[in-house]
Formats: sequence, C-alpha cells, structure tokens
Amino acid sequence: MERRDFVSNIGMTLALACVGGLAACSKGGGYGSSPDPAPGGPNAKLSLNLSTDLPNPGDFKIANGIILIRTGAGKTAADFAALSSTCTHQGCTVATFNNTTKLIECNAPCGHGSRFATSGAVNAGPAATPLTAYTITVSGNTLTVT
Ligand code: FES
Repeated sequence: MERRDFVSNIGMTLALACVGGLAACSKGGGYGSSPDPAPGGPNAKLSLNLSTDLPNPGDFKIANGIILIRTGAGKTAADFAALSSTCTHQGCTVATFNNTTKLIECNAPCGHGSRFATSGAVNAGPAATPLTAYTITVSGNTLTVT
C-alpha cells in the first residue's frame, strides 16, 4: 500500500468512527442524556387515549400502580376515578373493579377481601385506610393521571 492510499484509508476510518460515535450518543442512551418525557407530560403517572381506551362505563385498567376506572359516559375528569392500586391493608395490588357493586376488590390469592369505593374510601375491611386518589386531567382525547 502506498503512503497516499494509507493516509486516505486512515482518514476514512476516522470519519466513520466519528459519525458512529455521534449517532450512538444522540439516541438518548449516552451519558448525561435525559429520558424521553412520558405521554401527557413528565409528571404523568398514566396517560391514555379516550377514543380507544376504556370506552364504556365500568371499564378499568390497572397499570403503573394505578387503577383507573371509567365511572361515567362522558369525556371529563369527573367520568373517571384514578386511585393507587396498592391495597392499604398489606400492599397487594387490587384485583378488579366490580361494575355491579361499583367497588374495587382486593381478592385472593394475594388480597383478603377489602372493598373500596371509587372515591378510595374503605367499604369493607380488613383495610382501614382509603386508597390514595390521584388527579385526572382531560385535554382533547388524552386523559392524564398525575
Ligand atoms: S392486602 Fe388487600 S385486603 Fe389484604
């Protein structure tokens, strides 16, 4: 290999290494980068699309430590309830929302039968403390729990 070819090859190798290095650092995984914000904003615990998620009263979703229940037919914050899904008795994740009784149930195999209203209030023990309620905001078709 002649000197001129050698220098040209070294230059090309360095250029590719620099481009590759810049690309790796721009994907969000590099040192000092911040994670992408969650849908609904950086403080959102949960966010969903009202045109596709929880379409009917009585529908519910348990995710990110929250039980989100559609309590009404409208598209306002008052048509939903967002509560901690961690039972205040012994920390089990509540099992379900019973649309007949309108109560959140903490059932076996983990739970011990506590029942909570959609406000979070205890309806039946052994839990003695309400579930923590979260704030719901609705903007267009996006519901956000914070
Ligand atoms: S953990 Fe829920 S009733 Fe015991």
